[in-house]
Amino acid sequence: MLEKVEALLKEVDSFKSEDANEIEQFRIRLLSKKGEITNLFTQFKDVPNEQKKEFGQKLNELKTKAFDKVNSLKESSGSDATSEDKLDLSRPAEAMQLGSRHPISIVRNEIIDIFAKIGFNVSEGPEIEDDWHNFTALNFPEEHPARDMQDTFFIDKDVALRTHTSSVQVRVMEGGKPPIRTISPGRVFRNEAISARAHCIFHQVEGLYIDKNVSFADLKQNLMYFAKEMFGEETEIRLRPSYFPFTEPSAEVDVSCMLCKGKGCNVCKNSGFLEILGCGMVDPNVLENCGIDSKEYTGFAFGMGIERIAMLKFGVNDLRHFFENDIRFLDQFQGTI
Ligand code: PHE
Repeated sequence: MLEKVEALLKEVDSFKSEDANEIEQFRIRLLSKKGEITNLFTQFKDVPNEQKKEFGQKLNELKTKAFDKVNSLKESSGSDATSEDKLDLSRPAEAMQLGSRHPISIVRNEIIDIFAKIGFNVSEGPEIEDDWHNFTALNFPEEHPARDMQDTFFIDKDVALRTHTSSVQVRVMEGGKPPIRTISPGRVFRNEAISARAHCIFHQVEGLYIDKNVSFADLKQNLMYFAKEMFGEETEIRLRPSYFPFTEPSAEVDVSCMLCKGKGCNVCKNSGFLEILGCGMVDPNVLENCGIDSKEYTGFAFGMGIERIAMLKFGVNDLRHFFENDIRFLDQFQGTI
C-alpha cells in the first residue's frame, strides 16, 4: 500500500494540464468521495501498526499535494471563479444600503392620499409669516390673550415663524373663490420646552372646506371617513366642545384607542379615546376678512399634528425620536411606503 501512495505522489508531481476538463477528471479520480486518495484513507486501519506512522505521513503529504496541484492548475487554466476574466469589475465594492422614508413623510403622504380621494388638493405657504395671516385674519383680536394659546417665535413685532398652517388657508381664501377644498401640510413652530410630548418644531396638516350649505354634519362625516381610513374600519370618533378664535362652534376630536379597541389601556389613560385634532365651522369673521361672503358661503376647518398621528400609528413613545435622525430608529420604517 505504501507503494501505491509513492506511485500516486509521483503522478501528482508530474501531472500537467491546461484543460479544465482534464484537471477536473484528475481531481475526481484522486480526491472525490470515491477517489483513490479517499480510498487509501479508509484502508488506513488495515495497515500494520509499525507502518502506520510512515504511511499516515505520506498519505497526508499526498492529499495536500494533490489539492495544491489541482488548485494551482485550475487557477492558471482559468477555470476557477476567481480568475480574471470572470471578475466583474463593475460590481459595487460594498453591499448597498437602502434608505427609508422618514415616518413623518410616510404619515403626511398617507393623510394627503386619504383626503385626495375625497377631492382635497394640497396648498403650501411660507414658514415665516406676518401677523395678519397667522393671527389677525384668523380672528385673533389685537393684544388678545388668545394669541398666548400658541407661544410664538417672533422675528419682529409683525413677523413670526408660523404657529399653525391655518395661515396657508388664509392665503388660499384670499387668492381664490369657493368652492375650496384644500389641505395644508407643513412645518410649524412654537416656543415650547422640548420633551417626550412636545417640541418647538413639529408638522401639521390643516384642512379647509368652503362652499354653499356646508354644515357641521359634513365636518363630522369627513372626520369619520378620515379616522376609519387612517386607523381602521372599526374606529369611532368623539367630538368634545372646544374653543378656537377662527371657528364657531369648535370641537376637539378623539378617536377610539386603536391599541385597546376602546377598552382602556395606559396609552389612552383608560379612557378608551385618544385626542387627534381640533376642528370647527369657520367663523364668519374669518370668511369676511379673506374676502368671502359669509352670507353665501359656510365652511369647516380642522387641524392635526403629524407627529401625534405617527406616534399613535407606529407606537412611538417619545416625540424626540422624529428629530434625532438616529439610523436605528429610521431603519425600522424600511419598506413602509
Ligand atoms: N390651528 C389649530 C392649531 O394649530 C388647529 C385647528 C385648525 C383647530 C382648524 C380648528 C380648526 O392648534
